[in-house]
Amino acid sequence: MNKNLNAKEITSWVYALHADIKDAPYFEGFWPIPHGVSLNSYIVKSDKVALIDLYRDWEDAPEKMKSQMSSIGIDLCDIHYLVLNHLESDHSGFLKDFRKMCPNAKIVTTKKGAELVEKFCKAVNDNEKDFQNTAVQVVKTGDSIDLGQGVVLHFTETPNVHWPETMMTYEEKSKVLFSCDAFGSYGCVGTKENPSRIFDDECTEEELIFFEKEALRYYANIVASFSHFVKQAIDKFSSTQIKVVAPSHGLVWRKNPKRIINDYIRYAGYNTGGELEKEICVIWGSMYGNTKIGLDAVIEGIKEEGVNVNILEIPSTNASFVLGEAYKAKGIVLAMPTYEYKMYPPMAYILNLFNRKHFSGKKALRIGSWGWIGGAKREYDEAVLPLKWEEIESYEWQGLPCAEDKTTLKERGRELARQVKNS
Ligand code: FEO
Repeated sequence: MNKNLNAKEITSWVYALHADIKDAPYFEGFWPIPHGVSLNSYIVKSDKVALIDLYRDWEDAPEKMKSQMSSIGIDLCDIHYLVLNHLESDHSGFLKDFRKMCPNAKIVTTKKGAELVEKFCKAVNDNEKDFQNTAVQVVKTGDSIDLGQGVVLHFTETPNVHWPETMMTYEEKSKVLFSCDAFGSYGCVGTKENPSRIFDDECTEEELIFFEKEALRYYANIVASFSHFVKQAIDKFSSTQIKVVAPSHGLVWRKNPKRIINDYIRYAGYNTGGELEKEICVIWGSMYGNTKIGLDAVIEGIKEEGVNVNILEIPSTNASFVLGEAYKAKGIVLAMPTYEYKMYPPMAYILNLFNRKHFSGKKALRIGSWGWIGGAKREYDEAVLPLKWEEIESYEWQGLPCAEDKTTLKERGRELARQVKNS
C-alpha cells in the first residue's frame, strides 16, 4: 500500500484526496474494472474544515485518505463538516467507522440522504450499538455553510445522479464543483510514475481520450438510466461559473472543465433524443458459426457504404463494454441464433440491459440462423418493443446461409448503413 501520497492542492484552501482501487475485479459487484477506479474526496479548509464525500473500506482507501489529510496537517478529528453528496456505499462504506472516530463532525446531506445515513450505520450484531451519535444537518437547494474567510459551500439537490438523495456542492471562492458521481469515470488516475496524478492537465491527449472512453462506459453502465436527471442537474449550473469539476471518480478537470461537462451533455443526449454517433455497433453470438457466416455478409454491406462499424462478440465481450460501445451508436446489428425456441441467452441479457438503461433512438437490424426450429424473432420483437427502435426488416435462415441468403443479408447491411448515414 502506498500511504505516502500527498493531498493535491486545487487552491490553497481546497485539496483533492484519492485512492486508486487497482485490484478489485468489479464495480457495483458486476461491472469489470480492468483499469481500476478512483475514489476521490476533498478537503475545504478555512476557519472550519469540511470533508466532501467519503470512501468505502476498499484496498485500505480510508487509510490512504487519512494519510493524505496528514500531509496538509489535518486529522480526522479536525473535521467540522462531513458533506455527503451521495450515500451509495462506494462513498459511505467508511461512514460507520468515521462516526465512531469523529463524533464531533456534523454530517451534511439532503433529507433523503439523512435517512440513508441511519440505514448504513445500523448495528449489525447484538454486541454493537447504533452509531447515531453524530449530528446530521439536512440541507436543500439554496442552502449554504460558511466556513469563514469567504469560503462558502453551496448545496444543490441533483436527484437521481445517481440515487434520489444526491446533491452537488459548489464552493464559491474557488468556484470548484464537487459533483460526486456526475462527470466521473472508471480508471485509476494515478500512474506508477506519478501515483498522485489527479488533474486533467497532468495527462496527455491520448490519456484524456482514454478517460473519456472510460467515462462513457461508466455512464452507460451506471448513469444512463437517469439521463433526464443528468440534463436537469447540468441545467441547474448553467449560469454558475465552474473553474474546476471535482468528481468522486476519475480526473479532476481544472484546465478544461468544459470538456467533461460537454461530454456528459452528449452522453445524456444519446438516450433522450439527442444526436447519436453515425456508426454501427455489431453485437453477435454464434453457437456453431452459421450466424457468423451470414453476419459477415451484413458487415461487408456496411463497409461498402463507408460507415464505421464496431464488432463485438458475446459473451466473450463483457456486457459492460458492449453497453459502452452500443450506447453511442446510431445503428445496431444484433446477430444471434435461436436457442430453445428463444433468443440466444447472452443476447437476451444484453437486451435486458438495453431496456434497463433506456437505449433508445437506434436503427436496428436483427439477423440469425436456426437449426431445427426458429423462435428468436418472437422473443426479440417483444424485448425491443419498449425501446421503439426503427427496425430494418430482419432476416433468418435455417442452417448455413446460401448464396441468395448472403446477397439479401449484404443488402440489409447496406440499407442500415445508408439509413445511419442519412439520419
Ligand atoms: Fe460512486 Fe453512485 O456511487
